[in-house]
Amino acid sequence: MTRIVTPSTTSIAEAAALLKAGGLLGLPTETVYGLAADATQGHAVARIFEAKGRPHFNPLIVHVASIEDAQKYGVFDAQGLATLQAFWPGPLSVIVKQTPHNGLSALATAGLDTVALRCPAHPIARAVIAAAGVPLAAPSANISGTLSTTTPQHVAESLGAAVDMILAAGPSNIGLESTVLDLTGDVPAILRRGAISADDISRVIEADVVYDDAPSDTPKSPGQLLRHYAPTCPLRLGATDVRAGEALLGFGPAHFIKIAGGGTLETLGAAYKNLSVTGDLHEAASNLFAHLRALDQPAHTAIAVMDIPRTGLGAAIWDRLSRGAGA
Ligand code: TXA
Ligand code: MG
Repeated sequence: MTRIVTPSTTSIAEAAALLKAGGLLGLPTETVYGLAADATQGHAVARIFEAKGRPHFNPLIVHVASIEDAQKYGVFDAQGLATLQAFWPGPLSVIVKQTPHNGLSALATAGLDTVALRCPAHPIARAVIAAAGVPLAAPSANISGTLSTTTPQHVAESLGAAVDMILAAGPSNIGLESTVLDLTGDVPAILRRGAISADDISRVIEADVVYDDAPSDTPKSPGQLLRHYAPTCPLRLGATDVRAGEALLGFGPAHFIKIAGGGTLETLGAAYKNLSVTGDLHEAASNLFAHLRALDQPAHTAIAVMDIPRTGLGAAIWDRLSRGAGA
């Protein structure tokens, strides 16, 4: 069983320590309860996907303590800053280009060069982010495909022991996830509706804000694909050898793999990455997007990908690779 704890100076410090140790926290916010992890630790972010039983990796919202902190991770122009000043802290997430080398795990952002940032208004959420001193990736605290949770009891019922500790601060008063506003295009676009409307934002920035939230769950939808890193090199899945010109994405021990021209893993050099030499799926998930990016070079005819078990996080990794192979 998970622990449901009343917020206090002591329990908030404990929650912060838990997050820094790579744990998962049930975090009260004004919209819904979040399943929070340190967004800079790939392993911790991998645990979020595992706990939610997500069949694939979506980019997550990164929660920060202030506008100043948001600027460490994302690039804001005058219009973006005006938006934050008007609506933060509050139920608005904004998507912007990432700053270079900002330390965010590539799994948290699904390998994209953009990031969704939010500064929640809930005093307990704010206290935890400040105490942890790290940005927190936090999707809604529920099993994938089920309802978002708005009370600590619902978090415990949905996630059970998969969440290490829940800070119980009563029901979320908005009860609906934050508005997601994409600031990376020519016109600000709402990708997910929430408590803050296009009109609300339009009034502040004195410019048009559109809705771009037509359902797009099918892999064919270009909008959906744009939100994930898609490799340019073809992927060859379930590979047991490396052909001439190919790079190798390994999983587990790879020394037995046959390499064209009698080469070895050493001679592959930078054309070889291993998701996890020990076969650890958490490690594999946290390395997935960074390794794909590293191997996705025009010099390679394809990326040969070794087989990965389809269980637990492996299913999400496999889903991502299959989409990459199909694209
Ligand atoms: O109210 C909320 O926002 C809650 C609480 C816990 O703060 N959090 C939440 O997070 O709903 P999450 O991770 O479930 O929502 C992520 C949404 C998804 O619709 C995702 O596609 C979109 O934000 N998103 C995140 N990063 C994105 C990016 N770089 N580009 C496009 N969409 C992005
Ligand atoms: Mg959700």
